[in-house]
Amino acid sequence: MGTIQYRSCTSSDIDQVLKFWETATHGGSTNTREAILIFLELHPDLFILAWDADLLVGTVIGAWDGWRASIARLAIHEEYRRRGIARELVARAERLLISKGTRRVYANVFNDSQVAFEFWRSVGFTPNTIVEPYAKDLSP
Ligand SMILES: CC(C)(COP(=O)(O)OP(=O)(O)OC[C@H]1O[C@@H](n2cnc3c(N)ncnc32)[C@H](O)[C@@H]1OP(=O)(O)O)[C@@H](O)C(=O)NCCC(=O)NCCS
Repeated sequence: MGTIQYRSCTSSDIDQVLKFWETATHGGSTNTREAILIFLELHPDLFILAWDADLLVGTVIGAWDGWRASIARLAIHEEYRRRGIARELVARAERLLISKGTRRVYANVFNDSQVAFEFWRSVGFTPNTIVEPYAKDLSP
């Protein structure tokens, strides 16, 4: 296990990212090439990857619509967990979001995962008691 390198995702990484998510995290309606390409078109710098040489070991997306920001698709390779890689990815995403004008960032935390709760609390996120996250699936 070498030094972890962090860099933005590019279109040539998409196959590896999709393969990585199959084992590293839950499925999702935006786990598609098309969805990633749309995001990269909008904010190429905010989709950050962590690498051990040519092995993809972590992902995070700092989503920003100019009004609200959120962090998504945080996932770390099982064998690379508990080494501070997620903390570093979130810190990098936060710095970029701040540089774009964000003042508050949300995280959708899997409600069946104690590990996820522990992680988000450890990086300063707390349960939002003011609003309840409602969602509507717009897929055809
Ligand atoms: C949650 C996840 C992203 C954490 O990644 P990670 O790289 O292992 O996290 P870090 O090493 O940066 O941990 C930072 C802190 O989070 C907390 N934490 C992380 N994993 C934990 C665990 N299994 N149990 C308790 N606390 C944990 C600790 O406070 C840790 O600091 P410490 O190691 O100094 O005690 C990773 O477990 C993962 O990919 N899980 C599957 C996908 C997922 O749940 N993603 C979150 C979406 S809501």
